[in-house]
Amino acid sequence: MSIGVIEFENKLLDLNVRVIDIEKDKDVLIQFRKDTQIQSVGKLDGFDFGSYLNRVRERINKLPNGQLLIEKDNIPVGQMGLGIVDYEGIDIGYVDLFYLIPEYRGKGLGEDLIRYAENFFKEINVYEYQLRVSSANQRAIRLYTNSGLVKISEDNEEHPVWRMRKIL
Ligand SMILES: CC(C)(COP(=O)(O)OP(=O)(O)OC[C@H]1O[C@@H](n2cnc3c(N)ncnc32)[C@H](O)[C@@H]1OP(=O)(O)O)[C@@H](O)C(=O)NCCC(=O)NCCS
Repeated sequence: MSIGVIEFENKLLDLNVRVIDIEKDKDVLIQFRKDTQIQSVGKLDGFDFGSYLNRVRERINKLPNGQLLIEKDNIPVGQMGLGIVDYEGIDIGYVDLFYLIPEYRGKGLGEDLIRYAENFFKEINVYEYQLRVSSANQRAIRLYTNSGLVKISEDNEEHPVWRMRKIL
């Protein structure tokens, strides 16, 4: 299942979205994932970046147009990971990552990421999506709550993690 890349709706900053090329982009992916881990739980302990890259590779194989880098003048400034998963017997959307580099936070772009993801899911006839977020990541939780996502459960792994969802 594959669709064309949707235009990223932020004319002001003139950003582009392109599909990840795992070999070319792997350093950027690791850098962004490390920073996300620090924003989420404050430290890097125990995160296996080799298996992370393998997971991204698998996601690209499954739904390439959901694994995206956001660029300004060909420099990566953000990332989105959008996929389809089976949840209790039905296909739903799943966001494995929303990421902006620090200089691009606080400009309303988080809302643009959400809008992009929702348009992406609707284009492929998916009308619910979920994501998981560390309970310590208050900025992300606030963005999600403001965007209409609701908490449906809490896992207590090494750190408490909320599962949130939105019906589109
Ligand atoms: C999460 C992320 C995508 C949000 O995008 P953003 O454009 O920076 O979001 P905003 O600046 O609009 O902030 C969202 C809300 O959190 C609030 N906020 C900002 N910093 C905050 C903080 N430290 N604690 C609590 N709330 C905070 C903002 O005021 C805003 O709420 P408001 O609209 O009611 O005022 C971005 O910050 C990011 O990439 N973070 C690092 C990666 C990450 O943590 N990803 C999520 C993994 S699940």
